Amino acid sequence: MALLFHSPDEDAQAWRRALLRHAPGLDVRLWPEVGDPAQIDAALVWRAPPGLLASLPNLRLILSLGAGVDAMLADPTLPDLPLCRLVDPSLTRMMGEFVLALVLKYHRQLDVFARQQREQRWAFTLPPQPGETAVGILGLGELGSHAAGLLRGMGFAVRGWSRSPKAIEGIATFAGPDGLAPFLAGTAILVCLLPLTPETRGIMDAHLLAGLPTGARLINVGRGAQLVERDLIDALDRGHLAHASLDCVAEEPLPPGHPFWSHPRIDITPHVASFSLPDSAAEGVVDNLRRLEEGRPLRNLVDRARGY
Ligand code: NAP
Ligand code: GLV
Repeated sequence: MALLFHSPDEDAQAWRRALLRHAPGLDVRLWPEVGDPAQIDAALVWRAPPGLLASLPNLRLILSLGAGVDAMLADPTLPDLPLCRLVDPSLTRMMGEFVLALVLKYHRQLDVFARQQREQRWAFTLPPQPGETAVGILGLGELGSHAAGLLRGMGFAVRGWSRSPKAIEGIATFAGPDGLAPFLAGTAILVCLLPLTPETRGIMDAHLLAGLPTGARLINVGRGAQLVERDLIDALDRGHLAHASLDCVAEEPLPPGHPFWSHPRIDITPHVASFSLPDSAAEGVVDNLRRLEEGRPLRNLVDRARGY
């Protein structure tokens, strides 16, 4: 079997080594060394140039190197083939760490103390107990449910919102459009871990933000296009929201001069919450290649109609 690898962001040689550890006979071709395009059976890609996948006439499977497939689905030339997204234990763990770090920042009021430092002001109140801090997670999939479990383990009052109803021990769950308002009303720290789909594009708008209690904080680790940026700035400037931490923004890299760079109540990180690591992710990739060969059901298959 021949697998084409393409990613501008990853260490291609590390991926080749990791893949060969699990499948020594695999013919791994590192883009742009495609060889005969007719020989490629599967492609493992991130930010593939539009048209690359369509140029492989015998392609049978597309594997995303990322958890989110929104950019891939936006390619109008994407072949109508099975598409699997990446689920990687390290990626899941790193996202959990990142969400935990930001929730702790807010829970222990570090955003407040950073502001006070700029004002040369020494003042404090006793912090709440974790059970008094309600963390609400938009999206209870691979990443959201893991982060929810970590936060629950720390004693936070955790709630989550998903498309389909879920029962998760120790977590208050809400589902669908009707569940959104009651979910938001009890959320002090909102974490977005939704995939970007036609339904979630612009979901964090003025209406959604108004549904949060005054003084709420926002953590966006999903996708930038899920947030209406003007509405966030307005909610912060009016004092309805207290602070936001944005790992994803609509245009990446964030353009010079964008108001987010200098807003006193916004922290920006350059889309670093989590990454796929070849040493832990290659096994799942190889498992799907074997499933393809043996005609067994693929794992982490994207439902194109849902968009995730
Ligand atoms: P996932 O397993 O597919 O989970 C998605 C969750 O979102 C599911 O719980 C799903 O509900 C829910 N959902 C989707 N559409 C919804 C809607 N319209 N209304 C309510 N809930 C909806 O995805 P994942 O692996 O957790 O990844 C989530 C996203 O994280 C990725 O798509 C990507 O955008 C982002 N991400 C960011 C980084 C970073 O570094 N910042 C890294 C990796 C991933 P159901 O359970 O009912 O289907
Ligand atoms: C990163 O953002 C991913 O979707 O894996």
